[in-house]
Amino acid sequence: MIPKSKIDEILEAARIEEVIGEFITLKKSGRSFKGLSPFSNERTPSFMVSPDKQIYKDFSSGKGGNVVSFIMELEHFSYPEALKWLANKYQVEIEEVELSSEQKEAESERESLYIVTRFAEEFFQNQLTETDEGKSIGLSYFKERGFTQETIKKFRVGYSPDSWNEFYDTAIKQGYKKEFLIKAGLIKESSKAEDQYYDGYKGRVIFPIHNLSGRPIGFGGRILVEDKKAPKYLNSPQSIIYDKSAVLYGLYFAKGEIIKKDFCYLVEGYTDVISFSQKGIENVVASSGTALTVAQIRLIKRYTSNITVLYDGDAAGIRASFRGIDMILEEGMNVKMVSFPEGEDPDSFSRKNDLEELEAYLSKNAFDFIVSKARILLGEAGNDPIKKASLVKEIVSSIALIPEAISRSVYIKECSSLLDIEEKVLINELNKIRRIRLNQQERNKSRLIDEERNEGEESAVEFKEIPEKLYDDVSVQERDILRIILSYADKTIRILADDGNELEVEVAPFMVHELIRDEMLFEDETCLKVLNLIIEYVDGENPILMGDFINNEDNEISKLAVDLLSSKYDLHEWWGERKILVEGEELKLKRAVEGSLYSYKSKRISKMIHENQEKLKEIDAEEKEEEVFEILRTQQMLDKIKASLSKPSGRIILS
Ligand code: CTP
Ligand code: MN
Repeated sequence: MIPKSKIDEILEAARIEEVIGEFITLKKSGRSFKGLSPFSNERTPSFMVSPDKQIYKDFSSGKGGNVVSFIMELEHFSYPEALKWLANKYQVEIEEVELSSEQKEAESERESLYIVTRFAEEFFQNQLTETDEGKSIGLSYFKERGFTQETIKKFRVGYSPDSWNEFYDTAIKQGYKKEFLIKAGLIKESSKAEDQYYDGYKGRVIFPIHNLSGRPIGFGGRILVEDKKAPKYLNSPQSIIYDKSAVLYGLYFAKGEIIKKDFCYLVEGYTDVISFSQKGIENVVASSGTALTVAQIRLIKRYTSNITVLYDGDAAGIRASFRGIDMILEEGMNVKMVSFPEGEDPDSFSRKNDLEELEAYLSKNAFDFIVSKARILLGEAGNDPIKKASLVKEIVSSIALIPEAISRSVYIKECSSLLDIEEKVLINELNKIRRIRLNQQERNKSRLIDEERNEGEESAVEFKEIPEKLYDDVSVQERDILRIILSYADKTIRILADDGNELEVEVAPFMVHELIRDEMLFEDETCLKVLNLIIEYVDGENPILMGDFINNEDNEISKLAVDLLSSKYDLHEWWGERKILVEGEELKLKRAVEGSLYSYKSKRISKMIHENQEKLKEIDAEEKEEEVFEILRTQQMLDKIKASLSKPSGRIILS
């Protein structure tokens, strides 16, 4: 592990304009440099480097960061790899540090595991292409399956010789530690004799599993002989570098295409991914035998919100996957599904057809998930009324998971005609399910609302539809707040305290306090991460250093920090030298602080109002009088909160 002080030394020595200048031609443009983006094929330069801030921003791809993230992005390096690259360029010596903390232990275990998996990947590849056994057994197996030379290289598949100790002996001879070979599942202890080990993947072909930066973190080994007792695939055990519930096979190779095509195919197996990719469809990943997890779904969601799930041609498999797909819906993503003819999987089907035929099949057979589910269940239920009733429940419970009200009502309409059931019946069912869930959320209702409720003043309720732009995505407002905090953290503004006295407060603690007090922490995941980090600083009464965000090890944090400092909108304002506040600017800052908090909070309240109104729409007013009143009461409170927000808050002195 590279100690923090070394990292600082490296960052101090490195000049971003020099490093980037090694890869692309940069031209001076004002205080910055401009060039053609190395991440896209642009003709007019929109790639900016700021020597002042030591950051880059690529307006064509949206990427941005500091010198470390540039190297990581360009060379697909991990964080320590990028630092080592820079240390080497700037002749900063990284000595092995003798520290004895748990953290160091974990870090060194992680690195050690990476090292043995890297070694194993190379060993298996070598065996496949350089040894007689590998060539005659492993390589011919892959060739028979139709893998090209290029594919074999790209996916770095390999072969583990049919010997008990070949891998083990080689690894030990080369100095790799037994402990880590065991933890990576590469060798296993014999059940017959103590301290005897054998090769975990003996006689199998190997599919390495890579993390997002392309490092091997685990392996799937496929058996080559008929053996009812042995599993077809052996997979790496859970370890500090391999968490199978949070990994998707093929994502490293697919992510670029997923972004470009703005959707992702989800398949079941290693070979499905590889065959599709070889055919020319590269936006494909596999859950690799495990049931789909939320972590895997969110991994895809980083790149697109559209998933098409591909199934083998048996109905049992499709049914089993319904739960997994419900989780995708719950994440607010769009799901389609394609099933293949009986007996085919994506791998076999893609081998029998050329790219054009395959693409045609996929587009012709991709059906919306809810509709497909309804069709499949309908087929199973036949004329059995009891089965049909439970089918309705099942379909509607999927629909109820969709966060968007508009999509829900579209599906209700569609399923009503498909199932030949009155819309009203479906809506009733939907409301019942959503009410149960909303009740749970009710319990977590914000303190802000409770306070208003206690005041309990009655007034007429007026229902006005809220235009969508008033409650849609709040991330713009969240980013605005973060931008102000990060840029003006330690500047002060004067506010009126509750006792009426004037108080001078720093921007960061003040804004953080405002958000926490009203329980309005951010919705956007990355914004929330940055905010949480800010809260840590504020709690510890530490100064907020922009560099800690820009150079943060968490790529998302660093990327957002750079974005905030370099958005096109305020390039001219922020890109230049940081100004010391003059008198007029202090006033401007007060307004910015107040304005950003106001527009954020009012948007959140509008959203709550909108959601409350949606509840009312879905409810059967005659039957559920009690609930209607409850909704009306909530509406009243929210209206009041909103009105109190629009009043000049009084907390900030404007002149
Ligand atoms: N799988 C597993 N362990 C098993 C069987 C399957 O981990 N014992 C996982 C593998 O990731 C496999 C996926 O489930 O790729 C799908 O299984 P299956 O359809 O049986 O294998 P295929 O990928 O079709 O492999 P092949 O075409 O070589 O039979
Ligand atoms: Mn198969």
